[in-house]
Amino acid sequence: MSIDANKKITLRRIRSFVRREGRLTKGQQRALDELFPRYGITVQQGRINFDVLFGRRGHRILEIGFGNGVSLTEMAANHPENDYLGIEVHRPGVGNLLLQIERQALNNIRVSNDDALEVLEQQIPDASLDAVYLFFPDPWHKRKHHKRRIVQSDFAQLVHRKLKSGGIFHMATDWENYAEHMMDVMSTAAGFENIAGSGQYITRPEYRPLTKFEQRGHRLGHGVWDLVFRKME
Ligand SMILES: C[S@@+](CC[C@H](N)C(=O)[O-])C[C@H]1O[C@@H](n2cnc3c(N)ncnc32)[C@H](O)[C@@H]1O
Repeated sequence: MSIDANKKITLRRIRSFVRREGRLTKGQQRALDELFPRYGITVQQGRINFDVLFGRRGHRILEIGFGNGVSLTEMAANHPENDYLGIEVHRPGVGNLLLQIERQALNNIRVSNDDALEVLEQQIPDASLDAVYLFFPDPWHKRKHHKRRIVQSDFAQLVHRKLKSGGIFHMATDWENYAEHMMDVMSTAAGFENIAGSGQYITRPEYRPLTKFEQRGHRLGHGVWDLVFRKME
């Protein structure tokens, strides 16, 4: 296949998000201007060397679609021994995360504003991650949009390639149909085992912060499903 053919395939790929610019607050804009050069990475920089990026060798954890970054900063503050790379396409969310990094003087977070699939494919070395977190990805409720869901067989294989042996892939969703879809995809994905046993969900591990949105959901009796799969080989 020629390079041109490859390019066309990339361009035609169905995206898991719709890029809405949204309004940036002054603070978020300042954070993007002043802090992104320090904490941010771009896909144009190519392959990441984690030792250089963090200046040490911690556990490497990737969060895909961190939203406003509240959970990510809480995890990073609670676990200073870990290094976190967060990816989010929504710029106000990235600005917000950068503001929190500054406020809490966190040294163990780096951030990307690119499509997670491109970052995984082009920037993350194989077998380099201890964990991949995917918390409350866009559920794409309508059946005709299910193809936009980020969790698909190819995505599972990409995550598998990037995890170290024994590394974990943790997903959470509040949409039952997506939870079932995740379970179907992951149960047939080669090289993964469900740490809870076949077809089973787990209760929220302590390291995943309870979001405000989730607390409200609990009060209304809504469910949340956590799935954790381990890379076997
Ligand atoms: C429903 S929100 C959940 C945000 C956050 N994880 C939370 O629990 O509040 C999903 C987020 O994933 C982001 N997203 C979707 N697809 C993405 C991709 N391919 N790369 C990076 N971010 C993505 C969206 O911009 C959105 O902010």
